[in-house]
Amino acid sequence: MTAVLEADSITKRYGHVTALDGASFTANAGEVTALIGDNGAGKSTLVKILSGVIAHDEGTIRLDGERVRLESPQHARELGIETVFQDLALAPDLGPAENMFVGREILRGGWGGRLGVLDKARMRREALESFVSMGTDVKDMFAPVASLSGGQRQSVAICRSIKWASNVLFLDEPTAALGVRQTRNVLDLVRRVAARGVAVILISHNMPDVLQVSDRIEVLRLGRRVAQFPGQGTSIEQLVGAMTGALDQRAA
Ligand SMILES: Nc1ncnc2c1ncn2[C@@H]1O[C@H](COP(=O)(O)OP(=O)(O)O)[C@@H](O)[C@H]1O
Ligand SMILES: [Mg+2]
Repeated sequence: MTAVLEADSITKRYGHVTALDGASFTANAGEVTALIGDNGAGKSTLVKILSGVIAHDEGTIRLDGERVRLESPQHARELGIETVFQDLALAPDLGPAENMFVGREILRGGWGGRLGVLDKARMRREALESFVSMGTDVKDMFAPVASLSGGQRQSVAICRSIKWASNVLFLDEPTAALGVRQTRNVLDLVRRVAARGVAVILISHNMPDVLQVSDRIEVLRLGRRVAQFPGQGTSIEQLVGAMTGALDQRAA
């Protein structure tokens, strides 16, 4: 198995708060890795560090075995790392299609393109295809996403990241605002993205979903990795025990 992304002993402090306390994490190509832990365990902080949003204090990050410093979200995206952040990070005044192509706009062919004229029809078509394949009811590709429902906004963020992820895809609580059918679609999509060789990292509080979709599960507690499990043959009780520390007490 090829480790695409490896975080080793990552520390991150906010003043007196230690958000990450020597956290390690590994994601492999073509696998879905679940990152689980109680509220405040450090999951979102780790995702932001591995997406270039915030800088860590100590520790190393390796991408395809090479040590990297992720300077910015843009830099992470250039390296093929896409992220659906817990707070989505969409441009509220732009429509679904424009959000999907922010910074990656398609220009028209010929003179128009040379003058910087956007190929809106093509962006609209490609965006619509993504939303339809996800089974969402997002229809107007240019209405401001601020006017969409929470679930629709979540769909826009997920479709955008899935479209562009070539190496690593982080999904931080992606199904929190989704209904049962859309959640199922997202989990199916997650498997399909992994099948094209991408390392997919899913953060979720839904343990049945985690066990259903993941190849591996890593558990964070108090800013550290405390356990790793295979997706097959692991029970919800084992996961909850690792998240809450009940298992450590038994071992101690
Ligand atoms: N910007 C911040 N400033 C201060 N403390 C923060 C900040 N972001 C996160 N934290 C703290 O770091 C810890 C980990 O938070 P977070 O990564 O959001 O956990 P999780 O996503 O697992 O719920 C928490 O104690 C949280 O309050
Ligand atoms: Mg979080």
